[in-house]
Amino acid sequence: ALWLIVTAVLAYGLGSVSFGLLMARVFGLGDLRKIGSGNIGATNVLRTGNKLAALLTLVGDAGKAGAAVLIARAALGPDAGQLAGFAAFAGHAYPVWLGFRGGKGVATFLGAVLALAWPLGLAACASWLACAALSRISSVGALGAAVLVPIWAIWLAPEAIAVCVAFGLLIWWFHRTNIARILRGEEPRIGRKAA
Ligand code: G3P
Repeated sequence: ALWLIVTAVLAYGLGSVSFGLLMARVFGLGDLRKIGSGNIGATNVLRTGNKLAALLTLVGDAGKAGAAVLIARAALGPDAGQLAGFAAFAGHAYPVWLGFRGGKGVATFLGAVLALAWPLGLAACASWLACAALSRISSVGALGAAVLVPIWAIWLAPEAIAVCVAFGLLIWWFHRTNIARILRGEEPRIGRKAA
């Protein structure tokens, strides 16, 4: 039990490293909190117009969760892998050193699911892509994937259904301002730069 607590704390710490803020610093993109949606994720980095920084944010935020899962699973087994994936997601969403004002966890979720069960991870990425392509809206991709992944998990990774439901519910909660904008028809399309 002690090792599981250590795992959760380390994974939380890793998850709380924001690649969006890191890339904004490295590429001199300004304060993400004052750009576009104010979110620290890859979608909002893309609104600065810097595609490389956005891609590195996506890969970094996904990679930290994937790494947490793989390391914990190798050391302590599958349950520790799930715990680490969830803790990394929580760290991204509620980072202690950013005053708990974190991100919406979409890349972190995709990275965790890819590492937990790669067929489910591919289904998650495909679900995001399909919903985002149809709507041209990033948050619709996230909301769609959040609903579909627990369903795909029934066939592809039954052991991960519970954690996927938890991810999905939290992703909907984190997107509440996006949902309000979608309903008002004011949610910006992917690739449109912030004014
Ligand atoms: O990755 C988060 C995405 O689903 C929405 O981001 O910046 O449009 O709120 P944003």
